[in-house]
Amino acid sequence: MSIIEKLQWRYATKKFDTTKQLSDEKLLTLKEAFNLTALSYGLQTLKLVVVGDKQIREHLVKVSYGQRQVVDSSHLLVLCIQTIIDEEDVNKHFDTIKAIRNTPDNILDPFKAQMKSTIEGMPLDKKIGWATKQAYIALGNLMTVCAIEEIDSCPMEGFMPADLDKALGLEAHGLKSVLLLPVGYRAKDDMFADFKKVRKQLSETIIEL
Ligand SMILES: Cc1cc2nc3c(=O)[nH]c(=O)nc-3n(C[C@H](O)[C@H](O)[C@H](O)COP(=O)(O)O)c2cc1C
Repeated sequence: MSIIEKLQWRYATKKFDTTKQLSDEKLLTLKEAFNLTALSYGLQTLKLVVVGDKQIREHLVKVSYGQRQVVDSSHLLVLCIQTIIDEEDVNKHFDTIKAIRNTPDNILDPFKAQMKSTIEGMPLDKKIGWATKQAYIALGNLMTVCAIEEIDSCPMEGFMPADLDKALGLEAHGLKSVLLLPVGYRAKDDMFADFKKVRKQLSETIIEL
């Protein structure tokens, strides 16, 4: 399949095959893809919580408005943002750059100072909004990688984040959930798999100047 055929093959899976599991290798590919997502400033203030346990996930159906994908999929990926983003994150980021690239302080210091002042100057709600946008980038990346790997997925905003955070004890990790991505394999009788894609014509969505 070409990449376009793979993107046409993917759809928001409504019914997963409960008997099929992702291999450890496929799961690792998704974890690596998440970690390789390009994020603003390169600051990785997102975390991916991978929930395999079916008992835990059964409790999440209610907070996901009855959407069974959260439990019927092979794994549930929960895209989370940190509740606190501060200069500690900037320090850690620059320590990592230094350790990996051996870049001298005199080159890094001006960038570090600029990043710190931007982060410090952001009110909390703006930081949350900014981090949330980063989570959507990771979601898009994961969905595309799923399509390439022929893994089915369903992007989900339809859940109650505060209740899900409570159920998974995310607060103790300093995290808030933003998006869900159940991943696995489509059930043979998921009628949505055969629906034609509904998209505008390219002439309506692309402007060439
Ligand atoms: C951010 C986001 C949130 C979504 N939330 C849900 C959801 O809660 N439940 C669901 O069944 N589909 C959800 N969808 C799936 C969309 O409805 C679907 O992607 C869109 O209609 C296009 O269809 P397709 O993905 O099958 O091509 C969501 C999609 C995105 C991108």
